[in-house]
Amino acid sequence: MWEEFDVTTLPYYDPELDNKVALVTGGNSGIGYYTVLHLYLHGFKVYLGGRNSSRVNHAIKDIKKEAKARLRKDIEDKHSNSLITRKTGKLEYLHIDLTDLSSVEKAATKFLAQEDHLDVLINNAGVMAIPYELTKDNFEIQMQTNYISHFLLTMRVLPLVKVSKGRVITVSSVGHHLILVNCKPGSQFNYWPSMFFMWCRYALAKTASIQFTKMLAIKNPDILCMSLHPGLVMNTNLFSYCTRLPFVGMFFWILFQFVGYLFGVSNEQGAISTLKCALSSELSPEYDNGAYFTTGGYPSKPSHVANSLDNAASTWIWTVHELRDRGHEV
Ligand SMILES: NC(=O)c1ccc[n+]([C@@H]2O[C@H](COP(=O)([O-])OP(=O)(O)OC[C@H]3O[C@@H](n4cnc5c(N)ncnc54)[C@H](OP(=O)(O)O)[C@@H]3O)[C@@H](O)[C@H]2O)c1
Repeated sequence: MWEEFDVTTLPYYDPELDNKVALVTGGNSGIGYYTVLHLYLHGFKVYLGGRNSSRVNHAIKDIKKEAKARLRKDIEDKHSNSLITRKTGKLEYLHIDLTDLSSVEKAATKFLAQEDHLDVLINNAGVMAIPYELTKDNFEIQMQTNYISHFLLTMRVLPLVKVSKGRVITVSSVGHHLILVNCKPGSQFNYWPSMFFMWCRYALAKTASIQFTKMLAIKNPDILCMSLHPGLVMNTNLFSYCTRLPFVGMFFWILFQFVGYLFGVSNEQGAISTLKCALSSELSPEYDNGAYFTTGGYPSKPSHVANSLDNAASTWIWTVHELRDRGHEV
């Protein structure tokens, strides 16, 4: 078992003086929810990128309430008023639907109009093991949601990340190891039985996310780009499709609970890896650019397919061409 990292050792900022800004996709549930909560507690103005206004606004309300309760408890526990000066940041909803490239463009344009810098971009949103489907941009849905739309979003807001010499964190998954040989993100395993290959399509997208991070780091040595596996967090909505299937859903539910019992971490512990990458002053572009981390924020090594620079370069080129073909020059 890993030793839990204490997020209160990460730096706290004054929202007015330091003006730290973060953008987190999928911040309304699961791991993203706790990522936002802690960034907010650390004084960040956080944009929650999400597709459903009522879900995101509901999460914003809950996070504010939770943050207030935690600050009060900290003050009581420590019998000190030193925490009274600790200020929470701000929370804003940014509409973005990752299955739609035009929505990504709109979100980026809105963000660029509102902010002049971005300290931390967290590409967190994702879907896992859902049936084969094409988006209106004609990409396989897991590939676009998990990878391609985050690629486009990152490229659009990158100038603001460079202004603050900030960080780009991309949430991948240990599941990327399912891809054993390099295959183009365009391979959609179209005609193969869905139940197994829906996991492979997820793995393919998460492999591409790691490759993207490696290339981004090489191309931008002045900022810090990292990817990570958050841990096995079995109580998020990520598993909903499988557990709601008729008949086999119960089998999946039992399997996930069992795996979670043996190897799982809580939703909040799942955010630790992201938070460490986003805030730790021990990480620097010089030594950590392109690195991959695992549960609890420990450095790790991705699969040989994800780690290969040749594969990363060809995935990058493929993505740029696919986006260009759809009218999105990057
Ligand atoms: N849980 C794990 O064990 C685990 C393990 C490895 C990696 N991960 C990765 O961790 C990240 C967070 O997952 P989670 O476990 O916290 O799952 P989750 O609770 O399902 O959160 C996923 C988030 O992504 C958002 N999202 C999905 N599709 C979207 C779209 N088209 N446009 C905008 N937002 C969209 C969801 O929004 P809605 O609420 O609107 O659906 C939700 O906020 C994912 O990238 C996942 O692959 C998780």
